[in-house]
Amino acid sequence: MERFTKHAERTCACQLGLYIAAQLKNNIFKEFQLVMPTFRTLDDLDLAGKRVLLRVDMNVPMQGGAVTDTARIEKIVPTIVEILENGAGIMLASHFGRPKGVVVPELSLEPLAAVLNSFLPDNEVIFSSDGSHAAAPGEIVLLENLRFNSGEEGNDPAFAQSLAAHADIYIDDAFSCAHRAHASIDGVARLLPAAAGRLMQQELEALNDALENPAHPVAAIVGGNKISTKLGVLENLITKVDHLIVGGAMANTFLFAGGVQIGKSLCEEDMAETARRITAAAKGTGCSLHLPVDAVVAAGLEAGIAAETVAIDAVPEDQMILDVGPESAGKIAELLTDCKTLVWNGPLGAFEFTPFDAGTNAAAQAAAKLTEKGALLSVAGGGDTMAALANAGVTETFSYISSAGGAFLEWLEGKTLPGIAVLME
Ligand code: 3PG
Repeated sequence: MERFTKHAERTCACQLGLYIAAQLKNNIFKEFQLVMPTFRTLDDLDLAGKRVLLRVDMNVPMQGGAVTDTARIEKIVPTIVEILENGAGIMLASHFGRPKGVVVPELSLEPLAAVLNSFLPDNEVIFSSDGSHAAAPGEIVLLENLRFNSGEEGNDPAFAQSLAAHADIYIDDAFSCAHRAHASIDGVARLLPAAAGRLMQQELEALNDALENPAHPVAAIVGGNKISTKLGVLENLITKVDHLIVGGAMANTFLFAGGVQIGKSLCEEDMAETARRITAAAKGTGCSLHLPVDAVVAAGLEAGIAAETVAIDAVPEDQMILDVGPESAGKIAELLTDCKTLVWNGPLGAFEFTPFDAGTNAAAQAAAKLTEKGALLSVAGGGDTMAALANAGVTETFSYISSAGGAFLEWLEGKTLPGIAVLME
């Protein structure tokens, strides 16, 4: 909490009076503390006998009716257990997929009640499509997919009100949805005393330590295919980090913009001017931009295809860059030994196909080793990044890996996320 004190003083001073008055008045928040965070947490709530509306993200990947990755479900369990232990009942609310305001039976949350229950063997997760089963203390009730109602995405006050009617308190544990100003994220948080759940808290603390209030030097690794999808991220990061390491196909565009021959590599030629502008802006902000010095190339992206390592200025015309080379990976590892903080989004190569995962693996393992020694705070996020770091075997070693996709990117862009802003109001 202490780390938020300064920021809290800055951002909340003018709201202090209102805040104290509101908390004392509704008698739901415990005794006011002088060390105030910028957002409220479970520590600020008296939950005994209350009904809690808990917004979670159960938008999990499914194939043939089975969940293929339960990580998001497992991560909400600690908050659920803590709320129940404090004597409250829980109404769980989530979206699933993008049904756009109509009932799509395959996107019902009903089957996920059993999946969640498998991680809470001492409780029963009751599915109640319309919320007509009120959550008594100790009970967990799962509501139907919020996005079956168009009022969710439209942030309709009436829909927010209908959600609020189920509860005395609102807790948001869905950082991965915080970029959506939807009824279950924004509207309802304005109608009830609102706080962050433990997962949201953990995520916000990690992100704060990584970019808002980091130990310098800070390095950022940004990979993936396109500059155009991460323009805001690059523009924000050059104002915040000391080293920006660019990999993946987006590095090809920077190389092309600098006059390097990149053969058949993926490249956004129409973004060359933008790449040059970012390079110049980075010089202005004192951020060192690092591009690959060698590359692993092949005739195409296929499993088992013949590959070779070449210097970056020797990419054959008929070959494409599919990974950073060992010299580049070694330079990243060496650079990280001088850094205290790392933020990572996007793989350095086509990691889904061996051997084009080698660069990402080497950089990830170097970061993991430094993290284990306590020399580096390593924070990563995004769907592809999570998969790439899992492939590198470092999931357990990084300081924090966020399962958020769009929300993590918007945070990297420096945007205000509506789901976070409302918790601070
Ligand atoms: C995600 O998977 O990133 C979140 O659940 C948000 O989903 P959305 O992009 O459909 O809003």
